[in-house]
Amino acid sequence: MSTHYTSHEELVRALNRNGQEHLAQQLNELGGSRREELFQQLVTYDWERLGRLVQTYVLSEGAVKIPEELQPAPYYPMTPAGPDQETQYRAAWAKGAQLVLEGKVALFTVAGGQGSRLGFEHPKGLFPASPIRRLSLFGWFAESLHHMQRRFRTVIPWYIMTSQTNHDATVGFFEENDYFGLDPQNLMFFSQAMLPAFDLETGKALLKSPTSLALSPNGHGGSLTAIRESGALADMSRRGIEHISYIQVDNPLVRPIDPLFIGLHALADSEMSSKMLPKREPMEKLGNFCMCADKLWVIEYSDMPVALAEEVDPGTGRLRFLAGSIAIHVLRVDFVERLTADPEQLGLPFHRAEKAVAYWDPACGAAVSPSGKNAVKLEMFVFDALPLCSRTVILETSREEEFAPIKDADGRGLDSPLVARRALIERGARWLEQNGVLVARDAAGEVAGMIEISPFVAIYPEDLQAYELPAQILEGDTFLL
Ligand code: UD1
Repeated sequence: MSTHYTSHEELVRALNRNGQEHLAQQLNELGGSRREELFQQLVTYDWERLGRLVQTYVLSEGAVKIPEELQPAPYYPMTPAGPDQETQYRAAWAKGAQLVLEGKVALFTVAGGQGSRLGFEHPKGLFPASPIRRLSLFGWFAESLHHMQRRFRTVIPWYIMTSQTNHDATVGFFEENDYFGLDPQNLMFFSQAMLPAFDLETGKALLKSPTSLALSPNGHGGSLTAIRESGALADMSRRGIEHISYIQVDNPLVRPIDPLFIGLHALADSEMSSKMLPKREPMEKLGNFCMCADKLWVIEYSDMPVALAEEVDPGTGRLRFLAGSIAIHVLRVDFVERLTADPEQLGLPFHRAEKAVAYWDPACGAAVSPSGKNAVKLEMFVFDALPLCSRTVILETSREEEFAPIKDADGRGLDSPLVARRALIERGARWLEQNGVLVARDAAGEVAGMIEISPFVAIYPEDLQAYELPAQILEGDTFLL
């Protein structure tokens, strides 16, 4: 970790110059090893830079600028639109498969988030996601990786980004599970950077205790610098990796390595590509793919003007801004190299989130648990790299096949474990039906038994052809493959 100040005096001057006098004072009040502890943490931050961030994002509100004249972004449809496109998709699949088998593709999972909405006290990747075995999200992705490595007789290295708060628990979990049978040489864990939370009114960095700041991860956009600073980027170059398949830890339906997507991205010479699906409703909680002056943007649902989100395309009768981002991307390694060449100049903006953050108050020397929002957390978003690309590609996918994220506790929202497990059951049932199996369904059309198809076995419905399948799955049956 870099050190920005070498002496106590230099640090104190920087703190005082940037509205953080309370930290300078706290340092002065501590003695011996306690002072050293706080000092060591404070010198890892550039307080001039943090001072500017506080001015822009904490003390004034409107930081994120929505570009004007937004247009819907073009995308490749899920099903090719005609014979020419069919040929193009076949060529793309072949290209993607070639890159995978040549060992030029790595998997990257961002798992540094705090997962506060789920109310699960471990890292989210440990969450028991699968319907029957209750296999963890990490275990589920590992099976998918095994499948692709076997299929293409190749090695697909897996990089996992954690944060200080969940790093040890994540690595420990992989160790306990014997890395799910993957070779640990091809797994790399690294933590993203943390940022202090700032008081909503005064912009002062909050302390968590007398000797440490109240910190939180700097957003998944922080993955770009973390990839470089951890040595993962150098590791990728050493291995000859050219493309990074980027997924979030929360979506068990995702195809972690998708040759069609990778191939479309590679053939178009795209620097960063994304998957989209049609939004259910104008303000669904997904980022919106938009074009502005030939650049691709993702405008978060919370920033998207309602009138624009509600516009209907008279030609199709569908939403004009239909494309929702599901946070599945492919990035070229050389694009990440270029973007992070000077990590201080990473061109991603920050987004402010107002939160309730417990803190230690030096004024009264006590811990405070606020009842409402008292702090601003600053995060970068990885999709803000899209407008910095010279070329991008978007591919449509289907919600039923590829998206059911686990974000909310059961009963607390649409993106719950119950909904995700149901989606896995329904997808498994559809694949079985496509292979001639009769699956019992109830009056509402829902599968009446329990089904789990491991990604080790199948990633696509046709993978099931190699297996002996039952003629039917009856009500109440449990079918695990
Ligand atoms: C995110 C996207 C949204 C997209 C949706 C799809 C943002 C702001 N929005 O929403 O556009 O439609 O997913 O599911 O991202 N993470 C880190 N470090 C961090 C913060 C997050 O690694 O500092 C990881 C999390 O572990 C998780 C992923 O990023 O894997 C998503 O984070 P989360 O904050 O849950 O995003 P959402 O608001 O759900």
